[in-house]
Amino acid sequence: MQSALRKKLLDAFTEHEGEYLSGQYIADLIGCSRTAVWKHIEDLRQEGFELEAIRRKGYRILKTPDQVTANEIRLGLKTKMIGQRIHYQESVDSTQKIAHRLGFENVPEGTVVIADEQTGGRGRLERAWHSPKSTGVWMSIILRPNIPIPKTPQLTLLAAVAVTQAIEDCTGLEAHIKWPNDILLNGKKVTGILTELQAEPDRVHFVIMGIGMNVNQTKMDFPAELQSIATSLSIEKGSFVNRAEVIRAVFHRLENLYQLYLEKGFLPIKLLWESYAVSIGKVVTARTFSGVIKGRAMGITDDGVLKIEDEDGNVHDIYSADIEI
Ligand code: BTN
Repeated sequence: MQSALRKKLLDAFTEHEGEYLSGQYIADLIGCSRTAVWKHIEDLRQEGFELEAIRRKGYRILKTPDQVTANEIRLGLKTKMIGQRIHYQESVDSTQKIAHRLGFENVPEGTVVIADEQTGGRGRLERAWHSPKSTGVWMSIILRPNIPIPKTPQLTLLAAVAVTQAIEDCTGLEAHIKWPNDILLNGKKVTGILTELQAEPDRVHFVIMGIGMNVNQTKMDFPAELQSIATSLSIEKGSFVNRAEVIRAVFHRLENLYQLYLEKGFLPIKLLWESYAVSIGKVVTARTFSGVIKGRAMGITDDGVLKIEDEDGNVHDIYSADIEI
């Protein structure tokens, strides 16, 4: 967990982006001695930050490492809630599990668990989620919305919109959403979202929004069975992508949309979701637990249910399925 002083220091560098901050300025700001400032600067260097120190001018950040630690993400983060607390670990089984534990410990809304690697990453429908070291974004966000349980799938759709927008912000690439929450680039999956709920019959305790983004994998980094269906931001962009920047973009978009959702309800989110969706209006095949349904995807309901009209004009409500387009 990041110390409050370190947070203040990185917030100051964020606010004065590209400028020199004098040792005295920092010492006054965070309320410590100049020796303690020097120690904080050395700690940042140890973590891979490149800092320039010029006499009578102060310190300036030249380069940040490609890490997903709390410090790295903090620099440049302008959210008020999402990501204000970050629990980073180098290697975990699954960030979902840690987030569930923290959820019960009453951590504030917007707390995020991030790992550089997951050894037991989980996906939808009990599938494994490939989460190799230092190439992707593997994170779980804790939210505490005051909404009825049937509305919680709306948050998955909200997250899909946020990630789609964030990808465009960082890479300029146009991503699309495949129901319910796969994010695609050029028809291949680049991100998956797993929303889990802790609730009593009448009350949501917390929601864990698990987001797995392939960022810097090459094609060969994916297991053979995924190579034709998965992709990464760097494959599609053709250059390296900074993971912390991607995370910050997701936090910003998520916070804005979540705020909009709490104030104005699901309709604006639904409209955005439909504008990014690939399947709406097309003939799709839905593989559900109870069978296969083929027909035209008509749209989603306010509960996030996909409506498919088959050849005979029957309309099916799809709650959980794999969709082929
Ligand atoms: C999917 O099946 O498409 C959803 C994948 C969700 C993966 C993310 S990675 C971070 C978080 N931790 C997990 O174990 N799973 C989610």
